[in-house]
Amino acid sequence: VEWSESERSIISGIFSTLDYNDVGPKALCRCLIVYPWTLRYFGTFGNLYNAEAIKSNPNVAAHGVKVLHGLDRAVKNMDNIKATYAELSVLHSEKLHVDPDNFKLLADCLTITVAAKLGSAFTPQVQATWTKFLAVVVSALGRQYH
Ligand code: HEM
Repeated sequence: VEWSESERSIISGIFSTLDYNDVGPKALCRCLIVYPWTLRYFGTFGNLYNAEAIKSNPNVAAHGVKVLHGLDRAVKNMDNIKATYAELSVLHSEKLHVDPDNFKLLADCLTITVAAKLGSAFTPQVQATWTKFLAVVVSALGRQYH
């Protein structure tokens, strides 16, 4: 994957201002509420009985932040995203048995959350770059599935 200078600066710009503690939990909550079958992987997280419970569950919030820190690794290794996620891909496939289709769903929820956060700064150009970035991440996370 090739990244132009403007794409690199858009991605690093978004992450440099992103509030992980806000965006991470919100995006994961959306994923769990909008696509409820994704709840099945979080059986150890306690009460996920309804939307309110999901939104106030501290394990969900902490995990949302963790996912964003996971994205950090891609930002810091934009030219090597595939290799960067090799281990995380094995974890999600072999240990967690997460259906890789779900990566796309979480990516969509991240996009909606970031768009709401950035407002008018989320221009079509920014969206295009952000979407490309997440597509590369989703592909890399799905690499170790067979
Ligand atoms: C764990 C990142 C998508 C389910 C993790 C961890 C990271 C991460 C960094 C912690 C790994 C560790 O402890 O070493 C990501 C990223 C994703 C993604 C960057 C996509 C953008 C998903 C999706 C699901 C999922 C879509 C399920 C619907 C899990 C589960 C764990 C986990 C169940 C273990 C949680 C625990 O018990 O603490 N993920 N993940 N992940 N992920 Fe993902």
